[in-house]
Amino acid sequence: MGISTPHGGKLIDRFVDPNTVDSLTQKAETLNRIRLSEREISDLVLIATGVFSPLEGFMGSADYNRVLQSMRLKSGLPWSLPITLSVTEEEAKPLKEGAEIALFDEEGLALAILHLEEIYNFDKEKEALSAYGTNDLSHPGVAYTHSQGDFLLAGKIDMIRRPAVQAFQEHHLEPAQTRKLFLEKGWNRIVAFQTRNPVHRAHEYIQKCAMEITDGLLLHPIVGATKKGDIPADVRMDCYKVLLDNYYPKDRTILSVFPAAMRYGGPKEAIFHAICRKNYGVTHFIVGRDHAGVGDFYGTYDAQNIFKEFEEGELEIRPLFFDHSFYCKHCIGMASSKTCSHDPVERIALSGTKVREMLSKGVKPPPEFSRPEVAEILIKAMTNRREN
Ligand code: ADX
Repeated sequence: MGISTPHGGKLIDRFVDPNTVDSLTQKAETLNRIRLSEREISDLVLIATGVFSPLEGFMGSADYNRVLQSMRLKSGLPWSLPITLSVTEEEAKPLKEGAEIALFDEEGLALAILHLEEIYNFDKEKEALSAYGTNDLSHPGVAYTHSQGDFLLAGKIDMIRRPAVQAFQEHHLEPAQTRKLFLEKGWNRIVAFQTRNPVHRAHEYIQKCAMEITDGLLLHPIVGATKKGDIPADVRMDCYKVLLDNYYPKDRTILSVFPAAMRYGGPKEAIFHAICRKNYGVTHFIVGRDHAGVGDFYGTYDAQNIFKEFEEGELEIRPLFFDHSFYCKHCIGMASSKTCSHDPVERIALSGTKVREMLSKGVKPPPEFSRPEVAEILIKAMTNRREN
């Protein structure tokens, strides 16, 4: 086993030749322009850097429809969520298929040129039902789908430059860089851990179980847009750093950010998360309880069961499934129902939601919930926020 082959066989790199940056920036000024939202900029960067390999641009209708119908691109390659660029009818009017369009950020910086292959409209309810299994607007992914313009622009992109500000620069490795790093370290079995929460004890437990059978851990927190109520990424990054420093072997862990927007798509997002991590070179991917879930929209193990819809080995990244983990007072340690037979009343369940509730009340979670160093950072962040 070695590091994973990129999805579709080749790591996509859509950056233009550095010698052409000035001329393309000037050209962008002369083209019809679209101003991208935070989420669209994040998707653009993920396409350009190969995180979304084999995608070379925003999806056309053939890929889009097949993804919604059967979790595959038109080529037949597995892919579970749409990657699209929407515009309003007004914005779409002057655009012509076959033309080039300039993609700008909110500050007016030209980021990329889109080779517009197709303009198509789409059924938001159908997309929501397929991607999220619901059309309920209280689901953040569904709300996002319905907030978009009515038309989608598709085509390959040429990336002129990265956005001016990239969060957590010192922990920002793109797929080409993680792949290089894994090779340098001589790691052949690498496990990635997706998270949108501070790492609590259950997370730590399942990461460490996975570390027992792999060469190293890529702690890969999502730092793109998350919903209101989730703990901000800068606070989480401080938590991850203090935890790794105090409780993990330095030579077997890498902390790097996953600059995608959280979709809260439960099972379909688990597949999407796994494919993206494969592009970073990772060989194993942790899927625990209610992965990428929100509220009660998904069953506890839906995000594990969905992997059965693909042939064994087809995704070319091995999911590592973990049952709901907890602290058992009788075992005096972390466990799951696979390893502990004690009465459930002995268990201290460790959900991110529960930790958030305690913190918002200013209550320090007990050490069975959270390492004290992590709890201290969270309490301090909550207190600062209340005072400001
Ligand atoms: S997520 O939206 O990124 O999935 P979270 O950061 O809470 O949310 O979870 C990160 C990973 O840990 C996911 O794979 C999730 O299924 C898993 N997980 C979270 N809590 C537990 C738990 N108590 N037991 C087992 N797995 C868990």
